Amino acid sequence: MNKHDKRIPQTLPIQSATFSNPINAEIRRAAATGIYDIRGGGAKRKVPHFDDLLFLGASISRYPLEGYREKCDTRVTLGTRFAKKPIELDIPITIAGMSFGALSAQAKEALGRGASAAGTSTTTGDGGMTPEERGHSTKLVYQYLPSRYGMNPDDLRRADAIEVVVGQGAKPGGGGMLLGQKISDRVAEMRTLPKGIDQRSACRHPDWTGPDDLEIKILELREITGWQVPIYVKVGGTRPYYDTALAVKAGADVVVLDGMQGGTAATQDVFIEHVGLPILACIRPAVRALQDLGMHREVQLIVSGGIRTGADVAKALALGADAVAIGTAALIALGDNDPRWESEYQKLGTTTGAYDDWHEGRDPAGITTQDPELAARLDPVEAGRRLRNYLKVMTLEAQTIARACGHNHLHNLEPEDLCALTMEAAAMAQVPLAGTDWYPGKPGSGY
Ligand SMILES: Cc1cc2nc3c(=O)[nH]c(=O)nc-3n(C[C@H](O)[C@H](O)[C@H](O)COP(=O)(O)O)c2cc1C
Repeated sequence: MNKHDKRIPQTLPIQSATFSNPINAEIRRAAATGIYDIRGGGAKRKVPHFDDLLFLGASISRYPLEGYREKCDTRVTLGTRFAKKPIELDIPITIAGMSFGALSAQAKEALGRGASAAGTSTTTGDGGMTPEERGHSTKLVYQYLPSRYGMNPDDLRRADAIEVVVGQGAKPGGGGMLLGQKISDRVAEMRTLPKGIDQRSACRHPDWTGPDDLEIKILELREITGWQVPIYVKVGGTRPYYDTALAVKAGADVVVLDGMQGGTAATQDVFIEHVGLPILACIRPAVRALQDLGMHREVQLIVSGGIRTGADVAKALALGADAVAIGTAALIALGDNDPRWESEYQKLGTTTGAYDDWHEGRDPAGITTQDPELAARLDPVEAGRRLRNYLKVMTLEAQTIARACGHNHLHNLEPEDLCALTMEAAAMAQVPLAGTDWYPGKPGSGY
């Protein structure tokens, strides 16, 4: 009998799960070019995330608050430990550090406008502070990065907080990239680099090799800024318990923890997809470190990496964070990957929702580019308004959930308000699997 005989019922051809079409395409691309894939954005693979958690609304054992009559406060103060002027925000959603260079000056201005209108802060990035973003940001956090590109002591003093970047969720242990096509005259001048030449940022601070040096660095920054402004320490999520504890020991006012779904402007795909922990797995160990040191709520925790909705915000806060930061979602609110540019995405060989060649600087939406004509497409006033609306909606969503759980402040959300849909999420978030009072690793449960 011949198995290809058409009279015999045929099985469908099966695509290998290991050697899938996308994997094979990447093997062929690598074989043809001999170069690794660089892209922007965060991890695209599915990993345990906030979607795997649900809230338990109030009923008899707890009672809910009335949406239109009872208040649910959203304010947060960051940097209460040492800074003379902590940052007071109306909402616990901040804009993450994204560099001028990666982003156009118009995009940076729009981020400042939108964040300020929503009563929150935005952050500089690798590449320094532009006058546009300082001018339009009521609260601006200045990043102090390993690369020191655009590092200017006068700008340090112009900032409302300093963020010492140790690492990023998209590439913990790695430095950034800015390809030559995005190094315009202005970017080159701000970074003191030659125009048009690919640049790789350092993966670690050149003048320190461990936590003791971080402590010295934080003291130095406090002296430059007269102990006025909070000092944050940002780390990529890999060993959240120890990294949080060491940041606190080194004197941080705020710890910023960025999970593997976190976006980047440009990094090797293999790095984005294979290094780091999902943010869901980072929050509870970081909170435990703060609790073990008696510093929970004294040193604030900002978390990021794939935050998209008010539900994500509420879940992050319920797990113990004080605030969240958003990068990718803010860019989408400005107009990134918008269907109105579909025909141009197609010319670039991609499609709406999949455009991630941010390093190439050919962004039709004018956001991740230094091309003057493309950048001029983004109206910072209109884009800022869109960001402000989006931040407002996320806040309203988080308040809706908090009230339904019976809380009059977003910070009163707690792990007891949550359950998990999967064993993985239950183990990582340390909240019970839906319909049980158990999660893997629960003390005393024998697992
Ligand atoms: C375009 C872009 C540029 C970025 N540039 C920086 C940077 O200069 N410094 C930094 O610490 N993080 C940078 N990040 C990471 C963000 O600060 C943040 O950690 C991340 O975007 C959070 O995850 P999310 O994008 O899922 O919200 C960048 C992210 C994007 C998307």
